[in-house]
Amino acid sequence: MASQEIEKIKQDIWQRYLERTKKSKELNEKAKYFMPGGDTRSIAFYTPYPFFAVEGKGCCLYDADGNEYIDFVNNMTSLIHGHAHPYVMEAIRKQMKKGITHGVPVEAQYKLAELICKRVPSVESLRFGNTGSEATMFCMRAARAFTGKEGFLKMDGGYHGGHDFVQINTMPDLATEDLPKAQATKGVPACVEKDVFLAPFNDLNTVERILKDKAKKIAAIIMEPMLGAGGGVGPKDGYLKGMRELADQYGVLLIFDEVISFRVHAGGLQAMADVKPDLTAFGKIIGGGLPIGAFGGRKEIMEMFDPNKPDSITHSGTFSGNAVTMAAGYANLEIYHQKEVDRINTLGKRLTEGFSRIFEKVGIQGGTRGIGSLAGIAFTDKVLNDSRDVVLSMIPSFELMQYLHLEMLNRGVFFLHRGMFTVSTPMTEIEIDKAIAVFEASLELLKPFAVEIQNQ
Ligand SMILES: Cc1ncc(COP(=O)(O)O)c(C=O)c1O
Repeated sequence: MASQEIEKIKQDIWQRYLERTKKSKELNEKAKYFMPGGDTRSIAFYTPYPFFAVEGKGCCLYDADGNEYIDFVNNMTSLIHGHAHPYVMEAIRKQMKKGITHGVPVEAQYKLAELICKRVPSVESLRFGNTGSEATMFCMRAARAFTGKEGFLKMDGGYHGGHDFVQINTMPDLATEDLPKAQATKGVPACVEKDVFLAPFNDLNTVERILKDKAKKIAAIIMEPMLGAGGGVGPKDGYLKGMRELADQYGVLLIFDEVISFRVHAGGLQAMADVKPDLTAFGKIIGGGLPIGAFGGRKEIMEMFDPNKPDSITHSGTFSGNAVTMAAGYANLEIYHQKEVDRINTLGKRLTEGFSRIFEKVGIQGGTRGIGSLAGIAFTDKVLNDSRDVVLSMIPSFELMQYLHLEMLNRGVFFLHRGMFTVSTPMTEIEIDKAIAVFEASLELLKPFAVEIQNQ
C-alpha cells in the first residue's frame, strides 16, 4: 500500500514537470541530434531533461515555456550578482565597443590582477586563463617546475576541473578501508594514477602518513580549502593550518583551489582561515559571468612564467586575458566587497537554518552544511567530514533527492540536483524565505517516500 502511494507521488511530480516544460522537451529532442544527451555539460544535465533557459534576470531564470525560477544554481556558483547585473553589463558594453580581444596586453588585465592581488595577500602575482581547469593545471605545472618533483597529493573525491591529473578519484574510493586507491576516470590514461596520492578531506593523519613516505615524489598538495564541488564540506578547526604546517615540514607546496570558495570572503576562504597557500587557482566569480581562470601565488614561483627569462614556462591561450572578460571581472569584484559578502553570507545562514528547521518540523532525518553563501542539504543527520561521507549519504537517497529537485522546480526553485544551493547578491530575505517555504511543501509531499527510505 505504502509503495503504491509513493509511486503515485513520484508519477505526479514527474508528470507535472513534463506538463510545464513541453517546449524544453521539444528543444531537448532537437538538441539530441547534434549533442550527446542534448546538452554540453555533464553537470548541467538531470533527468528527464533539463529545462531550457531563455532569459536570466537578477536572481531569476525564465524557461522556454515561460516558467520563472529563483536561481540557486547561478551557473555552478559563478554568477555572484545573478543574471545581467546592470553595472557589469555596462562595463561589458563599454569594452565591446573598443574590441573584444586584441592580441596584445590591455590595461584591464593588470587592473583585475592588481585588484585580486590586493585582496589576497598570498597572491603576489598572477596570470589569466579561460577556465578554472586551466588555473589548476597551471598551478600544478608551476609546482612541478619549481620543485622538480612530479607527484601530487589530492583529496579523495575532490574536483579541480577536466584535465587528466585531477581526473583521479573525483568520486571517492568507497571500497578501500585504508588509504584511498587512485583511480583515473574513464578515458584518462592509467599512467596518471601513479603520480597521484590520495587522502580524505579533514584528515591530517593520513596526509602526514603519505608525506612521511612519499614527500620526495610529491610537488604539491592540491586541495579546495572547503570541499566545494566535492560536497560543500567545510574544514574542521585547525585543519587548514595543519595542512600548511605539514606542507612546510615535508617540503611540498600547498595549492588552494578557490575556484568556488573565493566567494565566501573578499580575500577567499584562505583569508577566513588565515592560511597562506603557495599558489591559488581562481575561476567562476572573478570573470563577471564570462569564462575565466587565474592562477597566482608567491612571486618566486610565478616568475617562472616571465617571458624575459630564457627558460620560462610557456603559458598562452588565444582568449586568455581578453579585454571584455577583464572588464566584466573587474566591475563584478568592485561591487562584491566585504559588506556584500557578509550580507549574502547571512542569507546563506538563514537558508541553512531554515532548511534544518523544516527537516525537524516535517520529521525527516536531514542535515545542512556549507559556508557563507554556499549551502547544501542531505537526507542524513550525520556530520559529513569528507567526500566519502557525502557520497555514502547520497546513495540511499539519490532518487529522493531527484524527486525533491523536480518538485522544487515545479514550484519555481532551481537548485543543483545533488543538493547544493548558492546565494547571489540580487537575493533578499524574500527569496530565501520563499525557497524555505517551497522546501517545506515539497518535503511534506515526499514524506512517505523519505520515511520509507529512512526505515530501510
Ligand atoms: C573547485 C573547482 N575547481 C576547478 C573547477 C574547474 O573550473 P572550470 O569549470 O571553469 O574549468 C571547478 C568547476 O566547477 C571547481 O568547482
